[in-house]
Amino acid sequence: MIGVLVSGEGSNLQALLDAGLPVSAVASNRPGVPALERAETAGVPSEAFLLGEFADRVQRDTTMANWLQERGVRLVVCAGYMHLLTPPFLDRFPKRIVNVHPSLLPEFPGVRAIDEALAAGVVTTGVTVHLVDDGLDTGTVIRQEPVPVAPAETLVERIHAVEHRLLPEVVKELCVR
Ligand code: GRF
Repeated sequence: MIGVLVSGEGSNLQALLDAGLPVSAVASNRPGVPALERAETAGVPSEAFLLGEFADRVQRDTTMANWLQERGVRLVVCAGYMHLLTPPFLDRFPKRIVNVHPSLLPEFPGVRAIDEALAAGVVTTGVTVHLVDDGLDTGTVIRQEPVPVAPAETLVERIHAVEHRLLPEVVKELCVR
């Protein structure tokens, strides 16, 4: 069973759902985001775990890990999830947490990866699916696919299209392990 962590739009969550992958729980760090609506529409249990409602990040992550494990989750996918995960969460799912990132890591980690690639004037950027550790987009790379920057006007759209194909492919492979 797969647990998906989200913070916003949830288009990558939708790609996983559309691929027929066994998503059993969706957790968000923000309330009322479109990703939670997508979960609800798909009939998948969802919950928002807001930092402000817990003593600290560790408490929040521990509660979230419990909630996911109670729903049979054995593989966690960060799909646009905007918080770093603390060691108590990481330790619950060793080598079983993946993230999708819109650059060829280690180039352009962080939240502004596409803008930074454009500003840097690189010819090629891309998409990375990687294991999550306690750093910012620093875990072992599982799969990467290059995307040409030009034409810049359509870069965001083309990167998302690659994410929506690559992430379900990699997750499918991890599910059979
Ligand atoms: C994606 O570009 C993903 O690579 C990045 O955040 C974006 C999330 O989009 N980490 P969505 O919420 O899946 O639509």
